[in-house]
Amino acid sequence: MSANGAASAAPVTWLEAWARPEGGARVREAFRARFGTEPDGVWSAPGRVNVIGEHTDYNGGLCMPMALPHRTYVALRRREDDTVRLASAQEAAGGVWTRRLADVAPGTVEGWAGYVVGVAWALAQAAHPVPGFDAVVDSCVPYGAGLSSSAALESAFAVALDEVAGIGLAGDDAGRAALAQACIRAENEIAGAMTGGMDQTASLRCRAGHALVLDTRDGSTRHFPFDLAAHGLALLVIDTRAPHQLADGQYAARRATCEAAARTLGVATLRDVGDLEAALALLDDEVARRGVRHVVTEIARVELVEQLLAAGDVDAVGPVLTAAHASLRDDYEVSCPELDLAVDTAILAGALGARMVGGGFGGSAVALVRTDAVGHVAEAVSAAFAAAGRTAPAFLVATPDGPAARD
Ligand code: GLA
Repeated sequence: MSANGAASAAPVTWLEAWARPEGGARVREAFRARFGTEPDGVWSAPGRVNVIGEHTDYNGGLCMPMALPHRTYVALRRREDDTVRLASAQEAAGGVWTRRLADVAPGTVEGWAGYVVGVAWALAQAAHPVPGFDAVVDSCVPYGAGLSSSAALESAFAVALDEVAGIGLAGDDAGRAALAQACIRAENEIAGAMTGGMDQTASLRCRAGHALVLDTRDGSTRHFPFDLAAHGLALLVIDTRAPHQLADGQYAARRATCEAAARTLGVATLRDVGDLEAALALLDDEVARRGVRHVVTEIARVELVEQLLAAGDVDAVGPVLTAAHASLRDDYEVSCPELDLAVDTAILAGALGARMVGGGFGGSAVALVRTDAVGHVAEAVSAAFAAAGRTAPAFLVATPDGPAARD
């Protein structure tokens, strides 16, 4: 019998991260098998989880992501022409996707290849032309879990192409910010997802052992040590395995609502709303009012969490996470039954706080949990999903890993 009253123990699935040498060896071997030659090298980039600050990055706001030990690996060999040949180690029967870089433009590429050649296209747009390449990809970033598998893919190619094309941006943070911009353009203009940039920044500019506070108004970052275990705590990630239904259209609609509200309020972005009550009084539309309230209060929650962490008052972060979930669920309306079940069950089972992460409508939640209660909370959530007839969730404990790099 678990603490939330669920009678039967449901099996708990853990999402293991590959050790870096293992990930590198896998993709190198897959490259040899596919192309019959050695790659120039192997590069990898992490997925991310966001501690706090959701749907703030396209509003000039603050967010606090950290890189996961789960990474996407790329083995790549430069070509002398402008042809790209791409394969995924996860599609054993899949063919090799082929395209000339000269033929890549917005609206011309579908599927995951768009994230890859989109980065090459965006670098060329920024006057950093890259040659053609052969590449194989493999990944242990859970796909569709809201943990930025697409940003990990873009960022791994960004550092790989940066090196083989001799661009040299990956060597310092300013250059990495430029690579992140190329990844954002790839995602927005070639893959067609109008996301805000938190994920690419986390994957390229984070530091191992640290969370990153990103100020999207000016792109500045602060890094601070994020060692929950030293406080007897852990950040448990719960992949609900709920598909991101309607995610793209709903995400774009939220973004459009925020941008329209900013225009009505006469501010560049919602970050510039100083007086929330005065702003709400100027908005007639209820959806816009709730959207603005979510964004403005969420930015304040990022500032609060940063202060609590700096003061070592880590337990107090829990209720802030739970408040963020209520705001995302009720004001921003981007949660879903699976995310609410994960959050509610984790709190009932003893988590200090919990919330959905990422864009919403599926994907993952996080729970701040005492280290010795991690297994128990995971069991309680698994049991609740089983009792509700839902697909079994999967779990990982998030510890901050390092940025995109050569392996
Ligand atoms: C997705 C997007 C990010 C961000 C989050 C919500 O992950 O890719 O840019 O907007 O949703 O915080």
